[in-house]
Amino acid sequence: MANASGFFSPSVSSWRRRMQPQIGIYRSGLLSPDGFSSRVFCSSTIQGPEKLSSGASPSESRVPRLVNKGCKLVGCGSAAPTLKVSNDDLAKIVDTSDEWISVRTGIRNRRVLSGKDSLTALAVEAARKALEMARVEPDDVDLVLMCTSTPEDLFGSAPQIQKALGCKRNPLAYDITAACSGFVLGLVSAACHIRGGGFQNVLVIGADSLSRYVDWTDRGTCILFGDAAGAVLLQACDSEEDGLFSFDLHSDGDGQRHLNATVKQNEMNDVVGSNGSVLGFPPRQSSYSCIQMNGKEVFRFAVRCVPQSIQSALEKAGLPRSSIDWLLLHQANQRIIDAVATRLEVPPERVISNLANYGNTSAASIPLALDEAVRSGKVKAGHTIATAGFGAGLTWGSAIVRWG
Ligand code: UT7
Repeated sequence: MANASGFFSPSVSSWRRRMQPQIGIYRSGLLSPDGFSSRVFCSSTIQGPEKLSSGASPSESRVPRLVNKGCKLVGCGSAAPTLKVSNDDLAKIVDTSDEWISVRTGIRNRRVLSGKDSLTALAVEAARKALEMARVEPDDVDLVLMCTSTPEDLFGSAPQIQKALGCKRNPLAYDITAACSGFVLGLVSAACHIRGGGFQNVLVIGADSLSRYVDWTDRGTCILFGDAAGAVLLQACDSEEDGLFSFDLHSDGDGQRHLNATVKQNEMNDVVGSNGSVLGFPPRQSSYSCIQMNGKEVFRFAVRCVPQSIQSALEKAGLPRSSIDWLLLHQANQRIIDAVATRLEVPPERVISNLANYGNTSAASIPLALDEAVRSGKVKAGHTIATAGFGAGLTWGSAIVRWG
């Protein structure tokens, strides 16, 4: 079992001087309790094989500088497919009912990709909205983090999103895979890039299409999941304005048996000769199995670990529970959300929930719910949000953030 702690502390203003551009991180001590403990030099660039389509020079470093920064959440956006699948729709294909699903989970509808929909397009739409709210041009984005376990390219979708957004200066773009904890992991990674790497504007996208990996004959899982995308724009700011107060991250591979979608190997017959030579290709074929879940165990894990993690993040931030304006959990099951809120003594009116309309959208659920809460005027600039993701891996983690 591994864990990581929030390390943030006010940084030291004398570190503002610029350093010579260099390629790669060659010494990274990041932060000590009294500020930066060692120098961090960093640069990033995405290089095409010959010439970048945007015309940017492959050797041009995007953001090479030494930093002393805070970071804040300045924009959000979301997108969901148009096809709505209700509990009654599901009751036509598996032995279930609207009553069972809504009582046990709180879910009434979910959105599912269909036709020519693509997850990448949803992610681009969510990211565009976040940029518009933040009033940041695509050309000013330094980094795109696509948090997803269901990319449309096995090698990652983030560079495609960078391209579709029209980021002509080729910001770094890569995927983060951490299932339903992906967005929190992405948020913390973005903060590290801003604080330690000199990045200015980082897009953190949470997007998943678990409908592609659901066994639609398994009533224990197919009722839970939906598809969507959400995004936030995290921006560098003075350390005094810092809006990511603390975090607390964990993983436990032993719990993977309770929730997974592993590679299935289909061994081919007669492909290896008696002398070990290959007689046929491919020697074996692989594909992903559908989601396998022990719902009761995942439920217990969430209700036990999430309150502990949020409590730990609050302590690192030096904040009492009463300072939480909003509790924003991964939207997996209303009973999990209620149980965590009860343990943390957060009253229902300060709990954000929209899973009735979308189901569990994995890495998208937190930014999707945040976006709705911001646009509806619930979450206002200056509000403190305790957020937590949890799920396959197992992974879980929380962050205490300020909106705006
Ligand atoms: O991002 C994290 C992803 N995963 C989760 O968040 C999962 C967390 N777990 C859960 O949300 C819940 O465990 C479920 C909603 C999946 C299941 O709820 P439960 O209260 O734990 O039900 P259960 O699995 O104990 O099943 C109770 C009964 C069983 O019947 P018997 O054995 O008592 O006769 C199930 O076969 O309910 C039955 N059942 C259903 N009945 C109608 C299970 N699924 C259904 C269904 N409709 N869809």
